[in-house]
Amino acid sequence: MPIKWEKSKYGEKAKRFLSKSPEEFPLLTLLDGAVRSGKTLNIIQKIPQIFDWIGNENLKVFSGYSKSTVRNNVLIELKPFIENYLGGNVKYNGATGEMEICLWGKTYPCLVVGGGDSDSVASIQGGTWDFWYANELPQHHYSFYNMALSRLTPAYARAFADSNPESSNHWLYQEKIKPYLDGDKKVREVFEYWHFTMYDNKNLSDVFIQNQEKLYQGAFKARKIDGLWIVADGLVYDTFNPSKHLLSTQQTYEKIRKNEICEFFLGIDWGWNHPTACLLLGIDRAGTYYVLDELYSPKIEADRVILWIEEKQKEYERYFSFANCDNARPEQNEKLRQRTNLVIYEEKPKVEDSISLVRGLINYDNLMVSEICKRTLSEFETYRYPSETERQRAGYLNGDNIDLPLKVNDDCMDALRYALYKHLTTFKK
Ligand SMILES: Nc1ncnc2c1ncn2[C@@H]1O[C@H](COP(=O)(O)OP(=O)(O)O)[C@@H](O)[C@H]1O
Ligand SMILES: [Mg+2]
Repeated sequence: MPIKWEKSKYGEKAKRFLSKSPEEFPLLTLLDGAVRSGKTLNIIQKIPQIFDWIGNENLKVFSGYSKSTVRNNVLIELKPFIENYLGGNVKYNGATGEMEICLWGKTYPCLVVGGGDSDSVASIQGGTWDFWYANELPQHHYSFYNMALSRLTPAYARAFADSNPESSNHWLYQEKIKPYLDGDKKVREVFEYWHFTMYDNKNLSDVFIQNQEKLYQGAFKARKIDGLWIVADGLVYDTFNPSKHLLSTQQTYEKIRKNEICEFFLGIDWGWNHPTACLLLGIDRAGTYYVLDELYSPKIEADRVILWIEEKQKEYERYFSFANCDNARPEQNEKLRQRTNLVIYEEKPKVEDSISLVRGLINYDNLMVSEICKRTLSEFETYRYPSETERQRAGYLNGDNIDLPLKVNDDCMDALRYALYKHLTTFKK
């Protein structure tokens, strides 16, 4: 449903951004911050005025991770805004990415392109642009970003970008945001930075914000709600990002029902006082892994786990192929072997090796977690390396065990490592 612009509400920051005249902006303006803080819609609202000021001599480019993300995030609101509120017209050819915007007596030739992979730069070589809108700029390939900037040659050319926060190791943070915040004069001549939090979007309901506050804590709260670029300090999986890697319960069921998940398998970390964690994973044909379901409880034995596996095979109407289990409880594993139809492995991978495999999956967005796996999700937020003080207290010497996370809140993380390590090293060579 397109926005009803006549009902829009504006906070101070949005007002300040919207009332700035086009010539006052530098070459590149970034609106960053929390998801749903109004970044994209603020830029969309500014576009007609910017176009009118720039004129229609050169090409205007809209980019995103892919053409379809631009369509879903930007065009879906831009087109009804221009057509229903400003009396203009937008013609878009989804196959070629060519777009023509007619507004206030001028026709603007535009192009929509995806900038998310390394070969996308080839699609924008040559030509002069006088406007560029990068939707979710950190998702663009670095080479695309550089090429795009080099195309903006006219003195009046303007670029606008929006972005959600990523790790502070990201190139956008290192090259532009951080120097800007540090007051670097050279960067400030060409770059302007607007930071938005969820509280800056007056169109969101209080209930929505309160729910978001309940959903996220720690580093994730800082990123999602306050929109900060932080490396979750010391977090083992610091690039795990719920806005990218979380799957709703419904999406999870859909994937299973549509047969998109082609193999199901488990990882089990046995405990007694420490809880036992049993994770159900799946992989699709493209090689993306999914954490589909979890069993997490203290003081449960093999019987309870076997029952859960049987229930889940019935619920999802699928057989599970194997489980890789913690080798500390051989008698439990033997029960599983005798009483389920799964192949039972007891291969405990080295912590450092399996963590780096899991990190690799996350960094390439090849690991998704269903929102029903509440405990797993909370461990992603807390599973961390010890601080220097904690290391000294534990009696570690300088470089000793530097790659070992704290052994707390790690039950699901261990089960996850067991399952993925086994699948990656045995079945995906
Ligand atoms: N000017 C506006 N008028 C009405 N609703 C708005 C406006 N700006 C933002 N919103 C609401 O806030 C939501 C998030 O805005 P959006 O610009 O997509 O956020 P972001 O790009 O920061 O994730 C929109 O889907 C819309 O419901
Ligand atoms: Mg947006």
